[in-house]
Amino acid sequence: MTKLFSLSGSLRRNSLNSTLLRAASELVPDGTDLTIGTIRGVPLYDGDVEVAEGIPQSVTALKQAVIGCDGLLIVTPEYNNSIPGVFKNAIDWMSRPPSDIKLVFGGRRVALMGASAGNYGTVLSQSAWLPVFRTLGAELLPGRLLVPRAQDAFDDGGTLIDEKLRGQLKTFLERFVAFARSGTT
Ligand code: FNR
Repeated sequence: MTKLFSLSGSLRRNSLNSTLLRAASELVPDGTDLTIGTIRGVPLYDGDVEVAEGIPQSVTALKQAVIGCDGLLIVTPEYNNSIPGVFKNAIDWMSRPPSDIKLVFGGRRVALMGASAGNYGTVLSQSAWLPVFRTLGAELLPGRLLVPRAQDAFDDGGTLIDEKLRGQLKTFLERFVAFARSGTT
């Protein structure tokens, strides 16, 4: 069984990115277990809190989930041509303390995808994530899945109705699972 852990970078109930992630969870190849985690509850990073209280429980749980997975799927919105602050904040907390970075992220297979309402499908946000995960020592899946005009891809109930995207998502997940299986983390 290949274990994927995934995070959407949006807290919005009707998030296009969370909807995309739920669609992905139904399209993973056989022999794959995709767990959807959440960044909800992760406090704003504060170095004083870290010194006084240590790593918050919500962050420790996310770190443990990543340590236990073969691949980490990042589903990112794009804000102002870059990474949403709430998502970066969660990954920043997960990179603490530095002595744990290798355990959590080192050699970790990571894939990026994202959905936007506009025409570019989070290309700049995904590009902004690349140096972050490289810094943390992760192994990034070559290529990425961009979903522009994502509001047209799902019906009101969140069902994926865009057949072309369904095929792209399935192929992307197959590639990622093969990549994750080839890992040694
Ligand atoms: C956006 N949005 C946006 N979209 C985009 O393609 N490029 C961008 O730079 C931005 N910038 C931006 C900034 C802020 C503060 C917000 C709130 C939104 C629009 C964004 O793609 C859209 O709201 C998505 O629906 C957000 O993702 P979720 O919440 O639907 O997953």
